[in-house]
Amino acid sequence: MDCVPVKLPVIGIAAIDNQHQHLLEMVNRLHEKSFFSRAEVAESLEEFSNYAVTHFDDEEFFMENINFPGIEQHKAVHLVLREKVDEFNCRFESGEEAKSLTGELKDWFSNWLVTHITHMDSAAGTFFQNAHRGK
Ligand SMILES: [Fe+2]
Ligand SMILES: [Fe+2]
Repeated sequence: MDCVPVKLPVIGIAAIDNQHQHLLEMVNRLHEKSFFSRAEVAESLEEFSNYAVTHFDDEEFFMENINFPGIEQHKAVHLVLREKVDEFNCRFESGEEAKSLTGELKDWFSNWLVTHITHMDSAAGTFFQNAHRGK
């Protein structure tokens, strides 16, 4: 439901937690823009898509740096997401109606984000915290 704000889990790495929060805000704002012009939706969709890619790149860089053992599986899941975001862009570019498209994107992405943080991102955060415990 639109009126219930999604509460994101945190993984304890401020830079990543902030990016998650920002992504959620962007996808919500994108849906609000769908009540305005198509050009504004295009701009917000591009910003959201670029930021999502930046987030996946940053997170993968972080996992590489800490030698996280689950990195390949995690990258494979990000790849599915990267493709899914591309798919939404293609649908928009091919003329699909903005309000329903961005509503679908918002619902799907928010749910995905909560599940992904809970099951995958948090594992990388815990690994990092355990590796630095006692140092
Ligand atoms: Fe991730
Ligand atoms: Fe993430």
